[in-house]
Amino acid sequence: MLEIKDIVFSVPDLDAPEKGAQKTIIDGVSYTFEQGKFYAITGPNGSGKTTLAKLIMGIYDVTSGSIFLERKDITQLGITERARAGIAYSFQHPARFKGTTFRDLLSIAAGTEDEDKLAKIVARVGICSLDFLDKPVDSRLSGGEIKKVELATTIARNPRVAIYDEPDTGIDLWTIDPMVRLLKREQETQGTTTIVVSHNRAFLSAADTLLLIKGGRIAYAGDLDGAAELLKDLSACGYGDICEGESDVRCHR
Ligand SMILES: Nc1ncnc2c1ncn2[C@@H]1O[C@H](COP(=O)(O)OP(=O)(O)O)[C@@H](O)[C@H]1O
Ligand SMILES: [Mg+2]
Repeated sequence: MLEIKDIVFSVPDLDAPEKGAQKTIIDGVSYTFEQGKFYAITGPNGSGKTTLAKLIMGIYDVTSGSIFLERKDITQLGITERARAGIAYSFQHPARFKGTTFRDLLSIAAGTEDEDKLAKIVARVGICSLDFLDKPVDSRLSGGEIKKVELATTIARNPRVAIYDEPDTGIDLWTIDPMVRLLKREQETQGTTTIVVSHNRAFLSAADTLLLIKGGRIAYAGDLDGAAELLKDLSACGYGDICEGESDVRCHR
């Protein structure tokens, strides 16, 4: 069980005319993620989804509020300690490392260099061909490939809580369903609490619970059917979006 209690994240507001002004990005969020359940987090661009995920992983420190894993207060723990406690995070835009192969990253994540064990993980995440292990994780990997590497290293850690930030970014349409099934299978067979930030219907439908984040707050938590009206609002064309047909260039969010 992962509990977040009244967490707030504020940063200096560099756009504000007055000095010392703060911008609140996460505005008092409380929620309990049950062990072994599948959650989808969705919401407009800039609503705070990635920030919330990074606060849980400890990539950002909360301004106030608390985070508990299995009732233990982990608010003061750094990323490494939270990783050791069983939380894993898969970046929306994973880093690329010159001179590093998928095998290197997978070995670190799995804590083994044993060929059979690595092969088992490659098979488990459904990556076709063991040769992929020797792919350099550098700028030559495609957007889809780097996301698969990121996903595989997250799964290889056997986390209690796995957070995936927009795992479908850069992924071709026909890879999304196998990816949803993979995360579902991991949730069901390993009992992983799975939190996926996504706009994709396939992930939203796969989730036990959908969280809708708006303006740094939870606007809705429940099943997908109950969110139908709110999701319709989301698909309305907003500031900076590409609208259906010709846009009203004077529209505001
Ligand atoms: N470290 C930061 N410093 C200042 N502003 C930030 C920081 N991180 C995120 N933001 C801002 O907070 C808002 C929410 O960002 P983010 O969590 O990335 O949104 P989402 O993932 O929902 O698209 C955005 O306006 C973003 O520019
Ligand atoms: Mg984001």
